[in-house]
Amino acid sequence: MTIWFMTTNQGKVDEAREHFSKFGIPVRQFEFEASEPQSKDLEIVALSKIEQALPHLPNEKDMLLVEDAGLFVSALNDFPGVYSSYVLETLGTHGILKLMEHLHSEDPIRDGNLRKAEFRAVAVLYKDGQTIVAEGVCPGRIAHKPTEGEGFGFDPIFIPSDLDELGNALPVGEIGVKSTHGTPFGGISLEEKQLFSHRRRALSSLLEHFDILG
Ligand code: IMP
Repeated sequence: MTIWFMTTNQGKVDEAREHFSKFGIPVRQFEFEASEPQSKDLEIVALSKIEQALPHLPNEKDMLLVEDAGLFVSALNDFPGVYSSYVLETLGTHGILKLMEHLHSEDPIRDGNLRKAEFRAVAVLYKDGQTIVAEGVCPGRIAHKPTEGEGFGFDPIFIPSDLDELGNALPVGEIGVKSTHGTPFGGISLEEKQLFSHRRRALSSLLEHFDILG
């Protein structure tokens, strides 16, 4: 049983492998460039990619996974959202920081609320003519400066909210049992990112529905 993960992003493949290996499911990268429909909805984008890629699957019995994510910044009316890829290529993480320069406060809770953002991911798995759709969200805030190191994309500027003992995200500023202590995803290990990650949440939710596919 192999899951073909359709993406050109090696960072995403590493995260999916880390996750599915715990369940003994191998993940292989499926490099196929699908066109993205103009839509404000991540699910529509992901389903369209599945449709485009299916005829190219190496074996029709294999499973195909597509996952689409975006960074949604509250103060920017959810920008860049579904345009995250394009915005990362053009403005970059520095461009996002620039757009948010005026949003700061000495009070950490107010600062966190002014700079509130979330990652959202939609994962779609195709198997034997059926599709399951799952979502994952990771709330947090945008840092004031980047922390390079681990990760990819917006990881250097995104600080996830703390988690309670059940793994649920807490409101900005609340201290939880799991915390990066203000370090963005870019400054923590892949293993630690998985505790908070929108992608991991979407993939876990997919696995919960896995049995219905037989
Ligand atoms: P995609 O369309 O799902 O590949 O993601 C849209 C953009 O968001 C890409 O530029 C990714 O690099 C970025 N992105 C998606 N997920 C993450 C993440 O977990 N961390 C940082 N950036 C991400």
